[in-house]
Amino acid sequence: MPRGFGMAAIPQIREQSPLKKIDLRKLPRHIAIIMDGNGRWAQKHTLGRISGHRKGADAVRATVRTCRELGIGYLTLYAFSVENWQRPAAEVEALMGLLKEFLAKEIDELDEKGIRLMTIGNLQALKAPLRRQLKQAVERTAHNEAMVLNVALSYGGRDEIVEAAKKILRDGLAGRISPDEITRENFAGYLYTARIPDPDLLIRTSGEYRISNFLLWQTAYTEFYFTDVLWPDFQREDLLRAIAAYQARERRFGLTSDQLQKD
Ligand code: FPP
Repeated sequence: MPRGFGMAAIPQIREQSPLKKIDLRKLPRHIAIIMDGNGRWAQKHTLGRISGHRKGADAVRATVRTCRELGIGYLTLYAFSVENWQRPAAEVEALMGLLKEFLAKEIDELDEKGIRLMTIGNLQALKAPLRRQLKQAVERTAHNEAMVLNVALSYGGRDEIVEAAKKILRDGLAGRISPDEITRENFAGYLYTARIPDPDLLIRTSGEYRISNFLLWQTAYTEFYFTDVLWPDFQREDLLRAIAAYQARERRFGLTSDQLQKD
C-alpha cells in the first residue's frame, strides 16, 4: 500500500503555501486529472499545438512532484484517450514522442522517489517501442510503495467496461463464475483499475465540464473540481487549491449529513 511522507518531511509546503487551509491528515488518497487546454494555451501564445503539449508535459512533471511531496497515494493522469487517435497524425505522433521523452527523462527520478508507474488503457494500440519502454518502466518500479503514478493511455471508460464484461463472460463460460456471483466488488476487479482505489478527487482544467469517457465506473462517488486554468499553466498552488476545495466538502455517499455526524 503506498505510503506518503510524514507531515514532518514537508514543512516547506506548509510554510510557503498560500493556502494554509490544507489538512495534511485528510488528503485525497487518489487524485485523477483530465489535463485539458494544451491547444488553447498554445493558441493564446501564438504557438503550435505541439508546443502546448510540451508545456503540458512540464506541468505533469511538477504535478507528480507535488503529489509525491504531499503524500498522495495515487495519481491518475488522462494522457491519451481512445478518441485522441482521431487527431491529426502529426499531433498523435508528437504526443507519443513526448511520452517517450517523459519516460526516458523521468524514470530514474520516479524510481528514486519510490513511485510506481502503472498504465490503464489499450496498450496494444501503441507502437511496439513505446509499449516496450512502458513495460520496462512498469517492471522497474513495480516494487515501489510511496505513490502510484497511473497513466491512462489509449484509454476509454466505455471500452474498459466492455472489456470487463468480456472477461467475465469468458470466466463464466469456463465455469469460474456464475451470473449470481457477480457483485459490484468483483466486477471492479475485472476493470483496468483492479488494484487501484476509486478516485476521491477528479480535477479537470480549462473550464470544460465533462467526464469525456474517463473512469466512468470509478467516479461514482468522486468529488469533481473544475478550474479555468489551462493545463500547461497548472501549478502547485492550483493543485493545493483543488485539494482545499475537496477538503471543504462533505462526502455523504448517499447518506444524510446527520447520519454522518453520528459516526
Ligand atoms: C488535452 O488538451 C490534452 C491532451 C489530449 C494530451 C495530454 C498530454 C500531455 C499533458 C503531455 C504528455 C503527457 C505525459 C504524461 C508526459 P487539448 O489538446 O485537447 O487542448 P484544447 O482543448 O485546448 O485543444
